[in-house]
Amino acid sequence: MAALDLRSATVRVLVVGSGAREHAIAVSLAQDPEVTALACAPGNAGTAAVAEQLGLDMADNAAVVALAESWSADLVVIGPEVPLVAGAADAVREAGIPCFGPSAAAARIEGSKAFAKSVMSSAGVPTASSVMVDNPAHLDTALGVFTPPYVVKDDGLAAGKGVVVASDVEVARAHALMLLDAGHPALLESFLDGPEASLFCLVDGSTVVPLLPAQDFKRVGDGDTGPNTGGMGAYAPLPWAGEGLADELVERIVRPVAVELERRGAPFSGLLYAGLAMTSGGPAVIEFNCRFGDPETQAVLALLRTPLARLLHATATGTLADQPPIEWEDGSAVTVVVAAEGYPATPRLGDVITGAEGDGVLHAGTRRRDDGAVVSSGGRVLSVVGTGADLAAARADAYARLEPVRLAGSHHRTDIALRAERGEIGP
Ligand code: AMP
Ligand code: GLY
Repeated sequence: MAALDLRSATVRVLVVGSGAREHAIAVSLAQDPEVTALACAPGNAGTAAVAEQLGLDMADNAAVVALAESWSADLVVIGPEVPLVAGAADAVREAGIPCFGPSAAAARIEGSKAFAKSVMSSAGVPTASSVMVDNPAHLDTALGVFTPPYVVKDDGLAAGKGVVVASDVEVARAHALMLLDAGHPALLESFLDGPEASLFCLVDGSTVVPLLPAQDFKRVGDGDTGPNTGGMGAYAPLPWAGEGLADELVERIVRPVAVELERRGAPFSGLLYAGLAMTSGGPAVIEFNCRFGDPETQAVLALLRTPLARLLHATATGTLADQPPIEWEDGSAVTVVVAAEGYPATPRLGDVITGAEGDGVLHAGTRRRDDGAVVSSGGRVLSVVGTGADLAAARADAYARLEPVRLAGSHHRTDIALRAERGEIGP
């Protein structure tokens, strides 16, 4: 695959996905003078304003390839984990088109928690101790190995909602039995204490380039109450972390994992996301993901000054090591997710949204109805991004941009980045 010269080539970029993460990626690519044509498939009502909107069944690898070929894409960027785990990036690369996103073999780092644990163990990377249970008869013995709070996870992909953290052993047991009943192995883990951080790294084999560290808010309610979600808000960078945190995390955690994946014949190419707990004993991995995180991407890319297409293309073509250092804007970014009534359990869809056209209002679960109205089509509906000289200013900006948005029954957290702004989070 010849490296494309982004300074002279016509660069047509196809973004695959339909969330606010893809909207954020599309907005960054649209601002990049090297990108001459941009499409998003299947996209949403927001991406349609910055990119050509193309129909696509993301679960169909052959359809992804056919679309990339018929649209003459020079670069395909695959946002979500489901097509990556299913091998969409392999299929696009086999067709000779550069693709940002890992192979199915490398995407197992997210697709199978058992595989991720095995890689981390070989690489000597700290993570929670764990026991996999695939037979209900063994559940009580396995639970007996742990102390509260109990952590019970689905072994496979679960859109951030497969995890229960509970002090009550009965709640933990019930969740594990529910997973086992559905035919999914349950992973029991020791509880990792301490603030969480998300570190996104561009990875091409053993070349690892970190982006700004961010923090995500998983619980649905203010004060970290209620069930886990796909993420209700995020901010970047982390005022409570030292300057050297990203480099330290690369050396201790991300590079060893990238090297171990290469050693296993599954080199990673794309975005490797380390979800971490900053425990008193040092950083430990909660999970790896094989793609940009949502909603952290919306905050991180708001601060990126280096044109995005060049970074993604270099990663996709194995030339990341030749890139100059990434440049960032000063200041902070905050994103607040607007969720549909009933999210995360049973979101109500089809409600009309108004006031969602402003700068910084990224769309997730939205679509345009035949009569032109924008309506909700997913649990997380919008992701509103603010920036400012510091977290207080970025928070104020995000909540001000959210003010005109109207969606019946919607809810959002009012405390995104608040504890960090107040200096209440320690390393
Ligand atoms: P995951 O889907 O693995 O990212 O888990 C979702 C959320 O559950 C994480 O962001 C944490 O807040 C929590 N969690 C998962 N595993 C652990 C653990 N071992 N210890 C503490 N919290 C955890
Ligand atoms: N922010 C959590 C995720 O993308 O999985």
